[in-house]
Amino acid sequence: MLQSPSDMTALATRDGLPDDLLQLRKRYPRDTWPGHANLGEWVQFWLDRHRMFRELGAMLDEACEHLRGERITLDEFKPWFAPRLEFFFGHLDLHHKIEEFHLFPVFAKAEPVLQHGFTLLEADHQAIHALVDTMQGAAATLLADGIVEHDQVRRAGEDTGRELAALLRGLTAHLDDEEDLIVPIVLDHSESQLGLV
Ligand SMILES: [Fe+2]
Ligand SMILES: [Fe+2]
Repeated sequence: MLQSPSDMTALATRDGLPDDLLQLRKRYPRDTWPGHANLGEWVQFWLDRHRMFRELGAMLDEACEHLRGERITLDEFKPWFAPRLEFFFGHLDLHHKIEEFHLFPVFAKAEPVLQHGFTLLEADHQAIHALVDTMQGAAATLLADGIVEHDQVRRAGEDTGRELAALLRGLTAHLDDEEDLIVPIVLDHSESQLGLV
């Protein structure tokens, strides 16, 4: 079935960035990023934040897997999971705000032909926040005080794991595409020319 243009750019259905947003990436493929003279401290810090989200997301996912496999009890799961989930969501929200208010305007000004790429990334943030809300709802049920019965724990654990996996699928796709759009701009213009450092 043919996809409509909005399906082709929506986070849930697209497969990578559309071709018209990959022109600079073609000049700077991923294997040329490490060691590039313009891969400065700013972009490395930003890529490290993305790595942290990927790694922490995988750890949260693994903890849900352990709970579902009954390798840990809910009493063991809660004090490990709850503060890390809060940290994850707090930093994700802050990261998106910084990108939208400070970073995307800088990159869009440097490469006006890629402006619609930043509209797409902002739409991703909205989609990710909707996935976060759904996941938080499932986690709130699992982490609530009254939940003790085996079937209740199993059901709430499955719901939480499923919604977390959906969130991480969307987030991972967004992080990959965001890097494909932004890193080549930084390499082409340099951090100092963009006013990032
Ligand atoms: Fe983002
Ligand atoms: Fe980001």
